[in-house]
Amino acid sequence: MSGPRERKVQDPAAPLKDVEIVVGVGGGIAAYKACELVRLFIKAGAKVQVVMTRRATKFVGPLTFQALTGRKTFTDLFSLTQESEIGHIQVADRADLVVVAPATANVCARLAAGITDDALTSVCLATRAPVLLAPSMNVNMWQHPITQANLRRLVDVAGTFVVGPGDGFLACRWTGPGRLAEPADIVEAACRVLSPQDLAGKRLVITAGPTHEALDPVRYLGNRSSGKMGYALAAAAARRGALVTLIAGPTALPEPVGLDVVHVEDARAMEAALGSHAWGASAVIMAAAIADFRPAAPSDKKLKRTEIGLQPTIVLDSNPDLLGGLGAERARRGDGPLLVGFAAETHDVVGYARAKLTAKQVDLMVANDVTEPDAGFAVDTNRVVLVEASGTREIPLADKAVVAHRILDRVVELIAPRAR
Ligand code: CTP
Repeated sequence: MSGPRERKVQDPAAPLKDVEIVVGVGGGIAAYKACELVRLFIKAGAKVQVVMTRRATKFVGPLTFQALTGRKTFTDLFSLTQESEIGHIQVADRADLVVVAPATANVCARLAAGITDDALTSVCLATRAPVLLAPSMNVNMWQHPITQANLRRLVDVAGTFVVGPGDGFLACRWTGPGRLAEPADIVEAACRVLSPQDLAGKRLVITAGPTHEALDPVRYLGNRSSGKMGYALAAAAARRGALVTLIAGPTALPEPVGLDVVHVEDARAMEAALGSHAWGASAVIMAAAIADFRPAAPSDKKLKRTEIGLQPTIVLDSNPDLLGGLGAERARRGDGPLLVGFAAETHDVVGYARAKLTAKQVDLMVANDVTEPDAGFAVDTNRVVLVEASGTREIPLADKAVVAHRILDRVVELIAPRAR
């Protein structure tokens, strides 16, 4: 047998649970960030074996990793005790994934040439598990044609995965690409390597958050949506290989990495963004809480208390039903994306969701009771019911990231027989 072994495929909601990860630490200043990386891997449920180059041990002590992993750190291929106790072939065979962070220019060069003159490079060559490199080096070393050629060779010939490097201020005082990717981003890249790529190449448009309908330049009508469910869906879809466009109303959430994000303020801007993106997509998932009404005549100057009187009246206009509009247009065209809506309800949850499924002409409604304390707005967990014409299925209370994957499991099944 030759070539990379079949990738272990995990539940994308917890892809690092119980996997064996070898973290290879190269000799660069970013080696200290590998401590945080190892901690995050362990927190995510992985078992970690650290392998360091000799130079890496000048930056961080092997004992630090030993304390974090509970396992002896492997540093010396030619040490009688280490090789007999740990053994580079056992380490290579046992691994489900090898992550090299930082992957210095020197490590990349030795890996590209197949040189195995230390424990780290030997494990990388001997393993049949996927290898993920997180390069980190001076900007000129990174941009050098030899380094670039080495990376291309590793990707093209050996199927090696690469995350980063990031762009920014480097320890060598230069600014530019060369910075080790953030540990959380390396973890996400690792999650992706071990997750099913069942949305690979599929375009998904996901809306998230509330809309803010302006009253004047400083005031708006809004709602309690935090955007967490939509953002969780976008991250989950990207992990499974989808090309995601996230159309986000105003939220306080951090900007997601590696997604196409379109920020909008109000329902009409969301409608315009959907118009540009929805029709080329395999699926549109409408997790946004879109305001049904907007102030009919927003003022372009701040409204003054003395001018508006003691009992002001706000006249509202109706906003378009964006999802209903997509459903009607799809029916007219006879073709279009899979349409998924959300129904946040306070009573008769499934009944209303079923009515919306029909009225909006969509394929799936995700219904939840927002009066439950641990589901719905602003909390990190959710409990939902998937409502389709063919029946309902319950997704029990879980973290929104887990619920997002369970919703996507169904989306994957529903788009599989479709042409796009
Ligand atoms: N939605 C939409 N356009 C709107 C309002 C809602 O596209 N103007 C979408 C939401 O993104 C969601 C679904 O429609 O996916 C259901 O939203 P919801 O507010 O529950 O439904 P409404 O049709 O507004 O019904 P109601 O407010 O009466 O419950």
